[in-house]
Amino acid sequence: MDGNGRWARKRLMPRYLGHRAGLEAVRKTVEQCIEYGVEVLTLFAFSSENWRRPKKEVGMLMDLFMSALNKEVRRLDRNGVRLRIIGAREAFPQALQDKIAEAERKTAGNDKLVLQIAANYGGRWDVTQAARILARRVARGEMDPEAIDEAMIASELAFPDLPDPDLFIRTGGEQRLSNFVLWQAAYAELYFTDLLWPDFDAQAFADALISFAGRERRFGRTSEQVQGEDGA
Ligand code: IPE
Ligand code: MG
Repeated sequence: MDGNGRWARKRLMPRYLGHRAGLEAVRKTVEQCIEYGVEVLTLFAFSSENWRRPKKEVGMLMDLFMSALNKEVRRLDRNGVRLRIIGAREAFPQALQDKIAEAERKTAGNDKLVLQIAANYGGRWDVTQAARILARRVARGEMDPEAIDEAMIASELAFPDLPDPDLFIRTGGEQRLSNFVLWQAAYAELYFTDLLWPDFDAQAFADALISFAGRERRFGRTSEQVQGEDGA
């Protein structure tokens, strides 16, 4: 979700109003997902690197996160949304950690949409923490290092129970992954748009889905193989 700051600047407003407008775009996108039958939505809200921003902006983002949890969880729950936060949550203030745990508990039984908020998340962090878990097991003599395969690493990543993402959308004109779900997005279809995140509306979402629908997903095979499978 990139471009909140620029959206605000263009309107001669402080950056935090851009983040507030971004929250509105989140609300709409969640509704769109439910409407289209998208099963998992993962939003990159705050990266491991975003701590480098000015202290005031970091504090403001924490406040917004907290107030969004306070205000939105009831509605999410009503709409059948299961909320999960992925990332190194221990870095957040205790009150925020408690709120997160409560929101996850409250919505754990919902199955319309899994909404994952990546907060203090980084793709490298994710792989690193998985490696650490496996290394501990080896060190304790519970496992042979030769037994480590891709599936085992994947099983220790942030969301091992969910499928790999199919579509990766980045707004704000930048064409890079910026350390998001690096492992899991190995075969994700990438979609970049110049729209700033607060301007990402129903039409923009539909455009991304249309683009996705036109992609041929080969997963290493040939086009003929894939087409034969469909047509046979
Ligand atoms: C994305 O918008 C929101 C967060 C990273 C929290 P930005 O804050 O990166 O907006 P720009 O890139 O400055 O416009
Ligand atoms: Mg940005």
